Amino acid sequence: MQHKLAIVGLGYVGLPLSLQFCRKGNHVVGLDIDQVKVEKLNLGESFIHHIPSASVADEVQAGRFLASTDFSLVSRCSAVVICVPTPLNKNREPDISYIISTGKAIAPYLRKGMLVVLESTTYPGTTDEDLRDVLEEGSGLHAGTDFHLAFSPEREDPGNPDSDVAKIPKVVGGLTPECLKRATELYSSALNTVVPVSSCRAAEATKLLENIFRGVNIALVNELKIVYDTMGIDIWEVIEAAKTKPFGFMPFYPGPGLGGHCIPIDPFYLTWKAREYGMSTRFIELAGEVNTAMPDWVIHRLADALNDAGKPLRGSKVLLVGLAYKANVDDDRESPGYVLLDKMKAKGCQVEYYDPYIPVIRPSRKHGHWAGTQCVAWDPKTISEFDAVLIATAHQNVDYDQLGQWAKLIVDTRNAMKGRRSLGAVVKA
Ligand SMILES: NC(=O)c1ccc[n+]([C@@H]2O[C@H](COP(=O)([O-])OP(=O)(O)OC[C@H]3O[C@@H](n4cnc5c(N)ncnc54)[C@H](O)[C@@H]3O)[C@@H](O)[C@H]2O)c1
Repeated sequence: MQHKLAIVGLGYVGLPLSLQFCRKGNHVVGLDIDQVKVEKLNLGESFIHHIPSASVADEVQAGRFLASTDFSLVSRCSAVVICVPTPLNKNREPDISYIISTGKAIAPYLRKGMLVVLESTTYPGTTDEDLRDVLEEGSGLHAGTDFHLAFSPEREDPGNPDSDVAKIPKVVGGLTPECLKRATELYSSALNTVVPVSSCRAAEATKLLENIFRGVNIALVNELKIVYDTMGIDIWEVIEAAKTKPFGFMPFYPGPGLGGHCIPIDPFYLTWKAREYGMSTRFIELAGEVNTAMPDWVIHRLADALNDAGKPLRGSKVLLVGLAYKANVDDDRESPGYVLLDKMKAKGCQVEYYDPYIPVIRPSRKHGHWAGTQCVAWDPKTISEFDAVLIATAHQNVDYDQLGQWAKLIVDTRNAMKGRRSLGAVVKA
């Protein structure tokens, strides 16, 4: 069965999901408050590196995809899927204001029988309390009887060429069994596998478990990296060896700190909600503490390495390689690269960056002071002028053999220099 649905929030989650629904013959109205994004999409242009413009253009030309800022178009759809941001505020508490404002914007256009699904990562209770309240208030309808309500978390894996939205199983929980049935029907029209759970809260909690699992395990290897390093043992070698165990082990890799829109943020949604129940989330807090301390450890290693070369941090020229938060993507949200740049600058270093995915730093709320900074050129003269190069993210399209030939000193947080020759010293961090 084919559907006409609205997808609200055309970002890293909403856009690929929209295109997947379209590819399977559904009609999607993509709603966003960003006029520039909407215009670009209607011209068949993608603004996300790993989504080719052709895949947007195909759906626009076929008449299956239309982007708009006009929320009244919701009234022509049978379902609305919400994929708006869920950040933390400056006190590191959940900010669900984007969900609430979307709820208010769509409520006047809800009709009997419609389905609303929330996809934004959030704490258990958001769908059946907060979102439900604004939808019922703005529409005069009742969730579970007049309209259907569900939660289904997104599982995007940006930068992984083998990741296919259609093949990633989709967890779905509904307010009532009928809500679940309707949401399952909707997703089954575009995705191969739907995994039903008993409630919206169970679905919300599933997503949090997945992200907390990553955050905690990354903290574990980050801590072990430092302990093993002190013992003269290389964590990367140890992980490679441990990974050969065919059961009961899953590799996680250390780095200069957590990044991205999910892992550094989502666990604290649960921490906040757990307080309402008088509960504490000690693993989450501890993992947060360990991961947040990583940039300082990296700077410490950099300082030692420069010291060995007879140079202080103050006045040294340092190039950060890889500003995106993970390899092979252009997404720099919450990137530890910015923390490293800020900390190095505060110590008096002259810092610049190289990232083939980020030719110039875009304006953002959090890293506005770096906006407009341009990526340096990739050539022997430019690179060899730096006193040290700090690899923060290891994109595959960076030539690390060349880096080894050109750089005086490399501090490598990603094991990118493994097995490569270099003229200067390479220090793991
Ligand atoms: N990026 C990922 O890999 C990923 C993976 C799983 C889950 N998530 C979750 O999905 C949600 C969306 O994340 P994202 O990465 O797509 O964010 P994003 O910032 O890339 O996109 C969000 C979009 O929503 C739009 N928007 C903001 N407020 C709006 C409003 N009131 N009405 C309509 N549009 C609005 C923005 O203009 C933007 O285009 C978040 O809750 C995130 O935690 C993200």
